[in-house]
Amino acid sequence: MDRIKITGGGRLQGTIPISGAKNAALPLLIASLLTEDRLTLKNVPNLADVNLLVRILRNHGVDLAVDGKRQSSPHGLGETFHLTARDIVDTTAPYEMVSRMRASFWVLGPLIARMREARVSLPGGCAIGTRPVDLHLQGLKALGAEIDLDAGYVVARAPKGLHGAHIIFPKVSVGATHNVLLAAALAKGETLIENAAREPEIGDVAHCLVKMGVLIDGIGTSTLRIQGRDRLDGAIHTVLPDRIETGTFAMCVAATGGDVVLEGTRRDLLANALEVLAKTGTEITDTTTGLRIVRNGAALEPVTVETQPFPGFPTDLQAQLMALMTRAAGTSVIRETIFENRFMHVQELARLGADIQLHGDTATVKGVKALRGAPVMATDLRASVSLVIAGLMAEGDTMINRVYHLDRGFERLEEKLGRCGAKIERITAG
Ligand code: EPZ
Repeated sequence: MDRIKITGGGRLQGTIPISGAKNAALPLLIASLLTEDRLTLKNVPNLADVNLLVRILRNHGVDLAVDGKRQSSPHGLGETFHLTARDIVDTTAPYEMVSRMRASFWVLGPLIARMREARVSLPGGCAIGTRPVDLHLQGLKALGAEIDLDAGYVVARAPKGLHGAHIIFPKVSVGATHNVLLAAALAKGETLIENAAREPEIGDVAHCLVKMGVLIDGIGTSTLRIQGRDRLDGAIHTVLPDRIETGTFAMCVAATGGDVVLEGTRRDLLANALEVLAKTGTEITDTTTGLRIVRNGAALEPVTVETQPFPGFPTDLQAQLMALMTRAAGTSVIRETIFENRFMHVQELARLGADIQLHGDTATVKGVKALRGAPVMATDLRASVSLVIAGLMAEGDTMINRVYHLDRGFERLEEKLGRCGAKIERITAG
């Protein structure tokens, strides 16, 4: 298994191109199941999760052709995928695949909508919490799907096809919103979703569905009104920039000090997180190509933050912010309200000398004078990258084991940071 070695201490200086968003690319790839025509997606990040989903989609019968690299990028990031689901040959998504990546459960909605049947493995728990799928099933049932559970599989049927419905989600869920939105695109009549998740990635999928011929009102709000169609057209769509990668690199610069332009990204995708970062004493300015992040010698100010669905502070940046605050001049309080167990990074940060007390859903982080490098273990995607941030601030060498978690969601992380002067190297297993 690969490892990453970081020697802390240096400032970051330069430009980092931001990749297409993983969490938009995944549901956009799944949207290809909705049409016989070709869906072309540009700016698809080259990530382990994308590759795994492609395997699952191929299993259903989706044909994929990949062409040239993103022209505007000197570093060859982002690929153009042409996906065609002319015939769906298999409506089962097997346990071996779905259990490795939760987002693959979102094939359920499109498969029932188009094929009137689907058999999709329940995803199971994961390192960040129990993560049930009751809201997905509630929404799909409202659209007319009959749902049974059989040997760990959701077996869904809609012999007469899906129909529009009025769905009020009792809790905000990104995945349930994606699943129901994708299904409603091919349902007969109008679907109204209230308390929909407002994450920019949902808007990106909705915009793509509009290009495929679906009428959708309320994109970007918590009320989505969708007029389903009998069949959808092909489309060409560019995946929006990754806001979590943007926030992560911004925090890397805040951690080390320096001056870095994050290219191809936008403030509105993570305005709340950037406001928090500004409170720590980091300067953020809009440039013609993206965002410029600057921090000079001054101490990092502590912050009090709680994670919330968009437009609040994202849970997917909680671990990174915690790593940053380990070196703040004072005590920060970070409350995790989305996932009950998303604190796996705390023990690893402690190995580097961080002072963090956990009480229920709240972490109290006392800034320390210095972190010291040590071997640590990556436990999930965002926890892993928080260790990179800590490693960049630590004295000496930090060795991060199990970096396959990082490869799920960060495209060429060590190359992007290395170009800005970070001492970071991948040690490939022999
Ligand atoms: C998405 O996961 C993201 N994944 C996660 O990013 C992200 O952390 C999360 O949204 C929250 O923003 C992708 O986009 C691929 P949810 P998802 O359904 O859809 C509860 C990353 O690191 N819930 O919004 O699975 C659930 O337990 C990943 O890139 C139910 O109770 O999250 C949680 O407490 C990790 N019943 C809350 O809702 C349900 O049926 C929000 O989960 C569904 C969810």
